Amino acid sequence: MERKYPNLCQSIKIGNIYFRNRMFGAPMGGTDITADCTIGPKSTAFYELRAKGGVANVTVSELVVHPETEASHMYHLDLQTVNSLASFTYTADAIRRHGAIASVELSHSGQYAGTYLIDKDKKRDMAQWGPSKGKRPDGLEVKELTEELIQDIIKAYGEKAALAKKAGFEMVMVHGGHGWLINQFLSPYFNKRKDKYGGSLENRIRFASEIITSIRKAVGPGFPIEFRMSGSELFEGGYDLKDGIQVAKSIEDKIDLLHVSAGTYHRGFGKTHPSMFLPHGPNVYLAEEIKKHVSIPVATVGGLNDPEKMEEIIASGKADIVVMARALLADPELPKKVMRNKEDQIIHCLRCFTCMSERAETSTRRCTVNPLIGREMDGLEIVEAAKKKKVLVVGAGPGGLQAAVTAARRGHKVILCEKSNEVGGILVGEQALPFKYEMYRLGVTLGKIAQEENVEIRLKTAVDQAYAEKENADVVIVAAGSEPFLPPIKGLNQDHVFIVNEYHHNLDQIQDQVVVLGGGLAGCEIALHLSIEGKEVNLIEMNDALAPDANIRHRPLLLEEIERCGISVYKNHLGLNISENGVVCKNQAGEELLIEGETIICALGQKPRRDVVEQLVDAAPIVMIVGDCAKVSNITTAIYQGHHAGMDV
Ligand SMILES: Cc1cc2nc3c(=O)[nH]c(=O)nc-3n(C[C@H](O)[C@H](O)[C@H](O)COP(=O)(O)O)c2cc1C
Repeated sequence: MERKYPNLCQSIKIGNIYFRNRMFGAPMGGTDITADCTIGPKSTAFYELRAKGGVANVTVSELVVHPETEASHMYHLDLQTVNSLASFTYTADAIRRHGAIASVELSHSGQYAGTYLIDKDKKRDMAQWGPSKGKRPDGLEVKELTEELIQDIIKAYGEKAALAKKAGFEMVMVHGGHGWLINQFLSPYFNKRKDKYGGSLENRIRFASEIITSIRKAVGPGFPIEFRMSGSELFEGGYDLKDGIQVAKSIEDKIDLLHVSAGTYHRGFGKTHPSMFLPHGPNVYLAEEIKKHVSIPVATVGGLNDPEKMEEIIASGKADIVVMARALLADPELPKKVMRNKEDQIIHCLRCFTCMSERAETSTRRCTVNPLIGREMDGLEIVEAAKKKKVLVVGAGPGGLQAAVTAARRGHKVILCEKSNEVGGILVGEQALPFKYEMYRLGVTLGKIAQEENVEIRLKTAVDQAYAEKENADVVIVAAGSEPFLPPIKGLNQDHVFIVNEYHHNLDQIQDQVVVLGGGLAGCEIALHLSIEGKEVNLIEMNDALAPDANIRHRPLLLEEIERCGISVYKNHLGLNISENGVVCKNQAGEELLIEGETIICALGQKPRRDVVEQLVDAAPIVMIVGDCAKVSNITTAIYQGHHAGMDV
C-alpha cells in the first residue's frame, strides 16, 4: 500500500524499543483518581482508547514522585499504597495489548504543588516547596528545598521509575517543562539559589541531570527515557531558547528522546496549550532549533493535528516525532486514519478547551467533539442494533449530524433532512472566523462521514408534520437548532444592521466602524474577528462581564485578545435603539449616549426552534429532541445528545 504520509507512518527505534509510527500521545492529566491516589478504572479506559486508535505510545500523566513534598491528589506509585502497583500494571496492560508503548510521566509540581488541598487544616504542616523561598501569586508561601530534600526527590525519581518498569511500562517521561519543579530549577526566574543547584545555567541544570542519572541507574540501559522540556519559557525573566539549547546539549547523552514543548502553565497557558488564536504548531520552531544542536531524536508538540503539516515537519527534519494531546481526544483514531490514507475523516480538535476546563471545574474529562471521552466505560461503544429501524433526522447541525452518523453506524436506515443548502447548521457561520475554522470543518467532516455511512442526506428540505408522517419512520430525531433572539430594540430592521448568524453572508457590507451589540461568547468572537480585519470596533454589553458563557480556559484568552486588539468595550450599557449612525444606550448612571458605528452586528443570544419541535412531537412512534431546539446550549451538548439519540434508537 502506498501511504500518503510515509514519514508519519514510519516506525522509529528509541533506546531498545520500536515504536510503530511517529505519532506519539502526550500526557493528559488523570481523572478518576482513587481515594488512595491510584489509577481508577475509568482512567485506564481513557488511556486504552488512545492505544486502540493506533498512536505509537500513550503516556500516563502526572505520577507524583515525592508525595512528601507534593501531595496533590495525583497518582502515587509506591509499595505502601494498597493497589498502587496493580492499578499501574492494569493500565500498562491496557495500553500494551493494542500495540502501543506504555509510558508514564514522572512529575513534581514544586511550588505549584497542591499540598494545601490535602492539608487544609494544616495539621500535617505541609508546604509548597520550590528551588527558592518566596510567595506564589496567590499568596501561598513557598519554602526552599533543602539539599537533603533535593537528594530525597532525586532518589524518588529512580524508585518510581523502577516501579513503573515493574508494572510493565516500557518507557518513562521526565517532566522537565511547563513551569513545574525541574523547570523551576532551570529557570532564573524561580531559581535564586546560591548553592550548586543555582546560579549559573550549569548549576541550574544539575537537578535535572541528577534525576536522569538516578532513573537510568534504576531502569538500566536501553530503557527509553524521554525528557520533556520547554524549549523556552516564553516570558520575560524566564530562560530563552539559547538556554534551552544548552539544557538539551547538557543532558542528551543521558536520555533517549528529547521532547520540546514551550512556555509554562501559569505564565502563558495559551502558548503551552496553543489556543485557537494561534496557528497550528506555533512551537515547532523551538524543536527545530534545538534539533540542530543534538544528535538524539527530538519530538515537537503543541496545536498539531493536520497530517499534512505533521508529515512536513518530519520530512523536512524539523523534528523526528510529533506529539499530540487534544487532537487525540477529539479523534483517538487519528493515527489509524493517517495510516489508512483517510485523513478527510479525521474529526479535528477545536481547541475550545472544554477538556481542560471540565477537569478544573468538575474533575472529569469531556471533549466537545468526542462523546466517549471520560465516559469510556459507560457502554458507549457502537454496536450493531438487533432490530434495524428507519430513522428520520431533522436538521443537519452538529447534533443532527452526530445522531445520523451514530444511528447509521448501528445499521439503521437514516434519512437526514436539512432545510438549507448545506450541512453544518450553526457551524456554517464559523467559516468567516479563521480562528474558528475547525468548527466549520467539523460540520463538513461529519457530513462526509455521514455519506460514507450511507446516510441519505436531503438538502433544501424543511420537514413538517405531513412530510415526516409520509416518511413513516420508526424514529424521528429533531435537531432543528436555534434561531437568533431579538429583543424589542427599535431599529433592528435597517439595512446596516446584521444578525450574528448571517454575518458570514454579509462580510462585504461591513463598514469601517462597527458596533457589536451583545458581549456574550458569540459577540466577543465576532468583535475580535472584525478588529483583526482592521475595523474599529465598539462592543456593547448590558451586564458587567464579557463572555460569561465561555469556559474558564477559553475566556481569559479571549478577553486577552480583545484587550490586545484595542476593542472599545462598553459594559453595563443597555442598548435602547439603533439609529443610522450607531446604538443609543443607557449607561449605569442612567444617562443616554450614542455609541457610534456605521454597521451594527447583533449578537443577543439564541432561542430554541420550538415551532419545529411542536410540529413533530407526534410524527413517529418515538420522537427524540436533541441540541439547541431542546434547550439552547453549546456544541458539546448537541454532539453528546445527538450521539446518545443515535445509540438509543
Ligand atoms: C486535558 C489535558 C490535560 C493535560 N495534562 C497534562 C499532564 O498531566 N502533564 C503534562 O505534561 N501535560 C499535560 N497536558 C499538556 C499536553 O501534554 C500538551 O503538552 C498540550 O496540550 C499541547 O498539546 P496539544 O496542542 O496537542 O493539546 C495536558 C493537556 C490537556 C489538553
